[in-house]
Amino acid sequence: MTIEWRQAISLDNEEVDSDHKYLIRLVNTVEESLEYPRKRETITVTLDLLRDYANTHFKREERLMEQVGYPGLAEHKNHHQNLLKKLSELEKKILEKADPENFDNEPFPEHLMELLRHWLIGHIIGADLRMKPWVGKNGT
Ligand SMILES: [Fe+2]
Ligand SMILES: [Fe+2]
Repeated sequence: MTIEWRQAISLDNEEVDSDHKYLIRLVNTVEESLEYPRKRETITVTLDLLRDYANTHFKREERLMEQVGYPGLAEHKNHHQNLLKKLSELEKKILEKADPENFDNEPFPEHLMELLRHWLIGHIIGADLRMKPWVGKNGT
């Protein structure tokens, strides 16, 4: 089940929205790489892309929050640090479960993908949207 960007999660900021759209694509790409036949190399590549772009995006968001004097900057930075830690843990679990040598083509555990989708969407809804009044078109 892939995820889609929708207007309800827009921050009215083109740069941030396009980053989020791309991150959603990358989560979907990870999911696609888990489809049979699963190859560890392919999955590693998609997870690396996701982590690298998440890093780039978090830094961009933090610079933007600094520029506009967003009061929740420190807290939001902590969220990003935790997200990177969580992603590393998830990566390990996904690779363990995705390794074709560890099982006989069992279906990939859906809850792990669900966690990865929530990892991104949960943060956008729970934290990023709060800065919309500062960074959106009608922001200060
Ligand atoms: Fe974000
Ligand atoms: Fe964020």
